[in-house]
Amino acid sequence: MVKILYRWQFPVMKSRVLITLPLPTAALDALKQQFDVQIWDQGPMPKLQIAQRAKTTDAILCSLGTSITSDLIRSNPQLRTISSISVGVDHIDMAAATAASLPIGHTPDVLVDSTADLALALMLAATRRIVEADRFVREGHWSADWTTDFFLGTDLSRATIGIVGLGPTGLAVVKRVRAFGAKVIGWNRTEREVPGVRNVALDDLFAEADIVSVHTAAAPETHHLVSANRLALMKPGAVIINTARGSVIDESALIVALSKGKIRAGLDVYEQEPLAKDSPLLALDNVVLMPHLGSATAATRQAMMERACANLIAGLDGKPLPWCANPEVYAGG
Ligand code: GLV
Repeated sequence: MVKILYRWQFPVMKSRVLITLPLPTAALDALKQQFDVQIWDQGPMPKLQIAQRAKTTDAILCSLGTSITSDLIRSNPQLRTISSISVGVDHIDMAAATAASLPIGHTPDVLVDSTADLALALMLAATRRIVEADRFVREGHWSADWTTDFFLGTDLSRATIGIVGLGPTGLAVVKRVRAFGAKVIGWNRTEREVPGVRNVALDDLFAEADIVSVHTAAAPETHHLVSANRLALMKPGAVIINTARGSVIDESALIVALSKGKIRAGLDVYEQEPLAKDSPLLALDNVVLMPHLGSATAATRQAMMERACANLIAGLDGKPLPWCANPEVYAGG
């Protein structure tokens, strides 16, 4: 006898989600209620693991440490979305995703202020030599009396600050450094008028600025935009800050410039992350190093996770992602 199953009697198949990084318990539990979740929480997920596990998933929730290659995208046509807990999507082959009509979610806007704050923190740390001085005290070298030339730095209020990239984070940095009384010059790939910012050619920005702050996205056109030649244009004692992407600065050239002691730097991002254990940067006193923490405040990370989960859910429901990095996938209607 054939037993008739009514629609409501079919077991509900949950969508399958591969999560490639550890998440806070509350966020993970909420996802587990809705989806059939596989999670990799043992450090950077090896390529082979991603390739194997992607075969049995409908969506991937990842972040900057997971490289999503064209191969992975092409060999998994069942993927309905990839949602990244990041604003940048340079770890994802966007051309391949768009060619496969695969919507990619990201988390813009919510990390602008945190990243701009970190750029300011690095500016102050580098110009006032905070990390170097902290080390000096901890290592027990503080024995001499106060002298007029002890650990001298430079002032933001007297500085000309060059902003490379006048997007949302660049503008948030402009707002902050103007409040310090700095003069601001700027450069953007497509010229943008910003009140209080004098637009200059990129080479002139490097030659004029006391502090250069980099806020341009990683793209083929911005790869090594900060080249050896541009670093050589910087004034003695000038400072370069990078909270954008490592690939925008030619890191080997920066190491050479820093080793000569002519400039100082504050870096949150690197060409290779995590930074190699034998990177020459580690031996230099005139650079402040952060481990890619631009968005690392509790409130900002929460907001990023909320956006990433909203993107994931929309993608699995076949709806447009609220924060889609390749909206052209919807152009066909
Ligand atoms: C951080 O670098 C991000 O892209 O979210």
